[in-house]
Amino acid sequence: MDVQPPSALDLKRAAGFKAVNLVEDGMNIGLGTGSTVHFALERLAERVHEGLHIKGVPTSLHTEFLARRLGIPLTTLDEVDLLNLAIDGADQVDQSGYLIKGRGAALTREKCVADASKFLIIVVSEEKLTDRLSGPIPVEVLPFARGHVARAIRRMGGTAVLREGADRDGPVITDNGNFILDCTFPSIADPPVLEEAIEQIPGVISCGLFTAFTKKTVVIVGQSSGVEVRSF
Ligand code: A5P
Repeated sequence: MDVQPPSALDLKRAAGFKAVNLVEDGMNIGLGTGSTVHFALERLAERVHEGLHIKGVPTSLHTEFLARRLGIPLTTLDEVDLLNLAIDGADQVDQSGYLIKGRGAALTREKCVADASKFLIIVVSEEKLTDRLSGPIPVEVLPFARGHVARAIRRMGGTAVLREGADRDGPVITDNGNFILDCTFPSIADPPVLEEAIEQIPGVISCGLFTAFTKKTVVIVGQSSGVEVRSF
């Protein structure tokens, strides 16, 4: 009998489930966005129905609707001082624990929640790991300033492409009413320096480089050989 290797979804599920083992009774937790977090939310909902008491702060309307459907109690960043931990996905993770996030256009709320959390638990499948971040880097911009920000990115040596909606005519509109520029650079030599430079451009709401959270980040990687936990 042939034994099939685990699929990408299997690896995401394994990472998502493992993250939920870290959740304890009474915690306030950040709920990230994406297909890997989806599995974590399904497991979290099972634990809630078994009697676990937690409250979640969703990072997107997508996650809010999913959490409500699954019966996960919700709160807001206004109502909690500190989140015990946040569980979120990533598009790329390098060896220093620097991240690129925002494929799902939820980067700004994800960055707020990461900043408000004691620990950031990143759940990924193994193909997200990389020696060096390469992008593209999603950047949320005020619609008014999209041309201004794109020109500034070009002056920095990059290119900026306005993200188009998949099921609508016109650009993607974020949950905050803004646009996404997907920005590519020939190389990302120093991710913290690039993150700071992008976030200083007037009109940028936030940048999908996440470099400030490495000390509190735990990356849970679903791999064909099993689940690996990394810290930095
Ligand atoms: C959402 O904006 C993103 O930051 C996601 O967390 C990221 O794209 C990972 O998504 P998947 O788990 O679906 O790959």
